[in-house]
Amino acid sequence: MLAPIPSPLVTADLKRHLRPDFLWGAATSAAQIEGAAAVDGRGPSIWDAFAARPGTIKDGSNLDVACDHYHRWPQDVAMMRDMGLQAYRFSISWSRVQPLGRGAWNEAGFAFYDRLVDGLLAAGIQPHLTLFHWDLPQALDAQLGGLLHRDVAQHFAHYAAEVGRRLGDRLASIATLNEPLCSAMLGYETGQFAPGRRNRGEAMQVSHHLLLMHGQAIQALRAQTRTRLGIVLNQTPTYPAEHREEDRVAARIEDGLGVRWYMDPVFRGQYPADVLQHLGADAPAVLAGDLATIAQPLDFLGLNFYTRRYVSTQVPPLSPPGLQGFTDMGWEIVPAALSQHLVRIQREYAPPPIYITENGMANADTLEGEHVHDAPRIRYLADHVQAVAKAVDMGVDVRGYFYWSLMDNFEWDSGYAKRFGLVHVDYATLQRRLKDSAVWYRDFIAASPG
Ligand code: FCB
Repeated sequence: MLAPIPSPLVTADLKRHLRPDFLWGAATSAAQIEGAAAVDGRGPSIWDAFAARPGTIKDGSNLDVACDHYHRWPQDVAMMRDMGLQAYRFSISWSRVQPLGRGAWNEAGFAFYDRLVDGLLAAGIQPHLTLFHWDLPQALDAQLGGLLHRDVAQHFAHYAAEVGRRLGDRLASIATLNEPLCSAMLGYETGQFAPGRRNRGEAMQVSHHLLLMHGQAIQALRAQTRTRLGIVLNQTPTYPAEHREEDRVAARIEDGLGVRWYMDPVFRGQYPADVLQHLGADAPAVLAGDLATIAQPLDFLGLNFYTRRYVSTQVPPLSPPGLQGFTDMGWEIVPAALSQHLVRIQREYAPPPIYITENGMANADTLEGEHVHDAPRIRYLADHVQAVAKAVDMGVDVRGYFYWSLMDNFEWDSGYAKRFGLVHVDYATLQRRLKDSAVWYRDFIAASPG
């Protein structure tokens, strides 16, 4: 049985541990909510092409309509204002503003983001933008080879500069990439994500190109805007299942591929030697000067945290200690791992200020009349913001928290079957309804520490 739901007013006491300007927000991404896939001159992305291939998306759905946020954004901004959100993290669909990923700009596409940013500012909500949340323009993939081609970095930097020039000074921050680990490994090694390739050597080359995209974009943005610049990385702390040497070695490599492969080049200008050795012939081609380009000074680090992982070389694997239950994605719920991981990152990298740019759970929500009683999500949210406060107490400079996601949306290869939102979306009518968790979060944000 679940423990009683913590009251938002009592939980708000943790704000005593945080900076007075700590930001409370929610996050989305363009491909997952906008819809309007072929409206006003938008070009397709690799996700439109991927979803059109039978068998790729578990529920057979696509991104054509999604939450129709492209048309319903005024209502969505009003909803965020009513929830008292202080900040909103969203992404630009690159192919909406530059349909081919190079060449002509699409003014109608930029006009949409202009309206959205102005609407957010008018509602008193800080806009935090991500430039690339996995939806590469399909034309770049078809004509250039997409993320496999080194030139993608230069095209991305060009796009970044244009966004910086047009929107930069109205934005609270710009992140270059969301979760390059997923673009590279799920897109090119496991084939679970667009473009659906299965080759480890390609995946590692893509990861290097993504990091180059990041470095070149930061350089290009610095020349255009004074807004704060950073990157968003997803990190899953990985532990050995047992005190066996084989498990320790395996966990160390998993951690290397998931955490250090991105953190080391960005913050130390080098790839981890043990991972390079492990990769052997699958290690990427890196040219002279690449690592210096990648290691640009940043103003913030965005961390996405969902779960932890245990690595076991035993067959069958042992069940991990401290199990607290799973989300509807099958991801283990372990808030303490967030505090621990933040402390480790602070100690090992001394990064710039950290924002939790995603954290949340999929839950099998059901609509009962007009209500969604999502107690497990409230518990997840309360426990994770507590975990953040604990890390702050231990000296980690965390400045904000964005719940994933503002509303139910297209969850990539799971389609619409997995619901992460604070807000319920009825996909038949596109009606939005605040879940109990949205009301809880609203009251939590509004409450002053007692
Ligand atoms: C992250 C993604 C985000 C969403 C959540 C559940 O990996 O950045 O778009 O799918 O997972």
